Amino acid sequence: MSNLPVEQLHALRDEALEALAKADTPDLLETVERTYLGKKGSIRKQMSMLGKLPAEDRPGFGKAVNDVSNVVQEAFDSRRDGILAAIREEALKDPFFDPTLPGKRPGKGSLHPLTLVDWRLDEIFRSMGFYVLDYPEVDTEEYNFEVLNIPADHPARDMQDTFWLEDGRLLRTHTSTGQVRAMRTFEAPFKAIFPGRVFRYESTDASHDHTFHQLEGLYIDRNVSVANLIASMKTLLSEVFGRETKVRLRPGYFPFVEPGFELDIACLVCEGDGCSVCKKSGWLELCPCGLVHPNVIRAGGLDPDEWQGWAFGVGLSRLVMMRYQIDDVRHLLGGDIRFLGQFEGTGLE
Ligand code: PHE
Repeated sequence: MSNLPVEQLHALRDEALEALAKADTPDLLETVERTYLGKKGSIRKQMSMLGKLPAEDRPGFGKAVNDVSNVVQEAFDSRRDGILAAIREEALKDPFFDPTLPGKRPGKGSLHPLTLVDWRLDEIFRSMGFYVLDYPEVDTEEYNFEVLNIPADHPARDMQDTFWLEDGRLLRTHTSTGQVRAMRTFEAPFKAIFPGRVFRYESTDASHDHTFHQLEGLYIDRNVSVANLIASMKTLLSEVFGRETKVRLRPGYFPFVEPGFELDIACLVCEGDGCSVCKKSGWLELCPCGLVHPNVIRAGGLDPDEWQGWAFGVGLSRLVMMRYQIDDVRHLLGGDIRFLGQFEGTGLE
């Protein structure tokens, strides 16, 4: 057997071991490793010599190549371990480095439950041909009260304690501010919803906050009926709750509707037994509604003999509480991430 190829092989081995001893970073080491042990590395390439050897020498040479590969591979592995250990050792010397601290995971955001319900409702109403409109939170006495049939001396102004601005404007107390705005903007017939934040100057408890969310619905057409209003409300509720929801209609007074109703929904937190959310009544006042008052139609620039409408102002905050069984409205705007992170994957995304 010719000794030449094996000698060459051993020379390569020594060369590799020398080169790896000089490589002192993981990157350098990897480059060197590839030069010798990579698919096209010089040690691997020795296998191609096999064909040129006499048949009886081949097994011995093949084994020699494998042995050298293994030896060199081991040397690389232990050199790599050594380098990494040294790097760790060095890092541990930093007095501010605490290896016992848990790693940092990137935080993952989630949608607010109010956003989830609002977006779902936008989608439902859009599919029924409603515009989705956005109106200002700071508004005028005119849109918040006057055009809604609530003149300055009207006792109904006390129903909604108001935050007034120094310049005479106010924080809207309800989303009904959009009713006449919409009538003045769009040609009848039309239908629209306007969701948004509203504000009332009142003390807070489990079911009241000074800032909460409503979603107003307005439908202007000829021959509008209460039956149609109820049908739309039922669609809304069954979409949000994913099942038939028990409702009841009571007469309700609002100067801008006639007749006016209170639509109640059976409390889903306590299933009607009575709890802090429904004030032990088993029912939640969810949605005042009614047929738009002729004075309001007139303020919108339409003739009430020709045009009628229905309107509702659903408490979005309440709807969210019912949907997710939240028993205190103050959680909604409390900003606690632990609370807010709980609504992913709950069916409305
Ligand atoms: N704007 C009324 C409120 O916030 C609710 C309402 C809207 C009533 C539409 C009737 C029609 O109290």
